[in-house]
Amino acid sequence: MTKLENSTMERPFHREHRSTVGTFTSDNPRIVCRSVDVYYGEKHAVQNINIDVGRHQVIALIGPSGCGKSTFLRCLNRMNDTIPDCRVTGDISMDGIAINGPEVDVVPLRAQVGMVFQKPNPFPKSIFENVAYGPRIHGLASNPSDLEEIVENSLRRAGLWDEVKDRLPQPGTGLSGGQQQRLCIARTIAVNPEVILMDEPCSALDPIATAKIEQLIDELRALYTIVIVTHSMQQAARVSQRTAFFHLGHLIEVGETAQVFTNPQHQLTEEYITGRFG
Ligand SMILES: Nc1ncnc2c1ncn2[C@@H]1O[C@H](COP(=O)(O)OP(=O)(O)O)[C@@H](O)[C@H]1O
Ligand SMILES: [Mg+2]
Repeated sequence: MTKLENSTMERPFHREHRSTVGTFTSDNPRIVCRSVDVYYGEKHAVQNINIDVGRHQVIALIGPSGCGKSTFLRCLNRMNDTIPDCRVTGDISMDGIAINGPEVDVVPLRAQVGMVFQKPNPFPKSIFENVAYGPRIHGLASNPSDLEEIVENSLRRAGLWDEVKDRLPQPGTGLSGGQQQRLCIARTIAVNPEVILMDEPCSALDPIATAKIEQLIDELRALYTIVIVTHSMQQAARVSQRTAFFHLGHLIEVGETAQVFTNPQHQLTEEYITGRFG
């Protein structure tokens, strides 16, 4: 058993030390994860993760490729259920309610905990329909003008309204990459989520589109809780309040972003943020 304690022990930490250092709890948690393990068949991909996700905060998940960031992220809205042979154990609760029991209906859960992917993936439909689709299937609009209002508000929140208001019937796939990603964010917002998961949302975008999304993330934090996977440490430092560093399936360190980047407690964190391995 790993001890569940918030250690703030002095550096240097032994490189092989694998229980999480730093403060993994949050004063005002929206999501609480305890002893979460994920297996792909025999492979133990994510091991004994304990972490809280604070309300109205951005938490960044960082670490080298293959360390389990996406796997862990997918636990938070049960997307691992869609992968054959993938098994998730442990306790994950949102606002005190367990989300990984067999009785939980994943359809409303995935509206409540929305997801934005690495590659913008608008539906092959109009800009309007991309955003209207979710509210329609979840029955959120009682009449067409309600639906129009939801679409407009979602596009405004996603910072896209002014760019698309005159072309709503045109295909979403005709937008630029950055606009498509904001359309996907609008689509997520349209079904009233509480949490938004983002898996490397800027890695297919140019620097200007990236800056727009980063600014948007900062604005969205007032309304939503955001968990973002990023391979860019600069991005983690810019957009997040807390940072979690993963390595080989373990959560090595978690803490306030400024602290993790300026005063890491674990040797592996220090080596990673100073670029000694990637
Ligand atoms: N669908 C899958 N089937 C089997 N193994 C997988 C699958 N997805 C990821 N893995 C493995 O799980 C580990 C963590 O992967 P992943 O969560 O994608 O890492 P990251 O997002 O940090 O790059 C890796 O070893 C990867 O090869
Ligand atoms: Mg990944």
